[in-house]
Amino acid sequence: MPATVILGGQWGDEGKAKVVDFLMSRHDVVLRFQGGANAGHTVVNDDGTFKFHQIPSGILYPDVTAVMGNGMVIDPFAFRDELGELLKRSIDVAGRLLISSAAQVVMPHHKFIDSLMEGELKKNHIGSTGKGIGPAYSSKHSRRGMRMSDFLLSKEELHELVTRSTEWGNRYVELFGAPPLSAKKIAADFVNIQELISPMIIDTQELVTKWKADGKNIMLEGAQGTLLDIDHGTYPYVTSSNCSIGGAISGSGLAPRDIGRAIGIFKAYATRVGNGPFPTELEDETGDCLRDKGREFGTTTGRPRRCGWFDLVAARYAVNLNGLEEIALTKLDVLSGQEKIRFCVAYELDGERIGYFPQNVHLLNRCKPIYEEMPGWPDQELGRGDFEDLPENAKAYVRTLEERLGIHASFISTGPERSSTIVREDA
Ligand code: IMP
Repeated sequence: MPATVILGGQWGDEGKAKVVDFLMSRHDVVLRFQGGANAGHTVVNDDGTFKFHQIPSGILYPDVTAVMGNGMVIDPFAFRDELGELLKRSIDVAGRLLISSAAQVVMPHHKFIDSLMEGELKKNHIGSTGKGIGPAYSSKHSRRGMRMSDFLLSKEELHELVTRSTEWGNRYVELFGAPPLSAKKIAADFVNIQELISPMIIDTQELVTKWKADGKNIMLEGAQGTLLDIDHGTYPYVTSSNCSIGGAISGSGLAPRDIGRAIGIFKAYATRVGNGPFPTELEDETGDCLRDKGREFGTTTGRPRRCGWFDLVAARYAVNLNGLEEIALTKLDVLSGQEKIRFCVAYELDGERIGYFPQNVHLLNRCKPIYEEMPGWPDQELGRGDFEDLPENAKAYVRTLEERLGIHASFISTGPERSSTIVREDA
């Protein structure tokens, strides 16, 4: 069966985990293809609220195999803690939580360097999550990184490798005038978790080939969002991986023709954490209201998210870039109670109207949103199953976004619970 890709259409936090959770029952395997502990995915089901950072959220389905793919950068200590939380809640992962031997390891020096770099950038800092993501991908691309396969070495070899890697990292730490990390202690910590981690490490390329041959239903789970993509996002205010469709290929080992369905997840408004351009940002009471109502605080860092109106220019960019044929629209309920709902249809750049999303961050910073508006709907509970039961103005808003994007919203989410999901006719 062709694979399904779930990816973020905006700046992350679109509610991807809910859609993954909703569709998971039709899949055998879920593979996360990029990022690391910077992500925060929340699932609310009958057993309560679960927060995920590195482990694919699909693990909550007992028959699903969850894979941390080769495109990820994995913090093994954060992984141990996340796994511990799942085990505490009696989620049995034995034999069905796997880690690609080709995934990179986030080392303690990566996290330290992340914070040192952010400190040095001062007011121009990226606003990273501090999880070492940028430095870990830098090590990968400069071919100095450790891979998860290194956990399969002997204890002595692992100790030696971690020591060398940390000493290498300390050379960067020194550039910032910061005290070096203890290579010996870190190496001992790695050896201590080796037994826990090593049984889960597997050659995922071989596995993926087998799954394809066996006709397994594979879901590829993205983290962050298209506008944070290292190549296609608002560089340098981005994360360090490919969160858009290309990353789903390179980060999983599937081929383009294996992808049957790509669903872009979009919030019914927009949010962003960290620095960088955000043309439709609302720094007023409406922004505060969206933040409070939408509980827009980071799952990973707790930081308040910047909030704004839906940006059709940016959304169109994401639709085209990812070749999307359908979207899921989440958090529609958060807009309830707004007297007027605005959406950005174009930008004004240096006195001219433009309809495209500039790749150049300096230009994007100068873009001012041009809005259209529609009447809102009362602050009421939204329907839980049938699109037709939504308030007329809510339906009109969804239809307007669909028309302007030229794309169908297959799912509409009206609350955090699984049951608060409207599935449209052909989804
Ligand atoms: P990093 O990925 O920690 O290096 O952070 C780079 C940028 O991506 C910062 O603006 C972060 O706030 C943002 N970012 C990283 N992960 C997420 C996420 O899961 N959701 C939203 N923003 C994120």
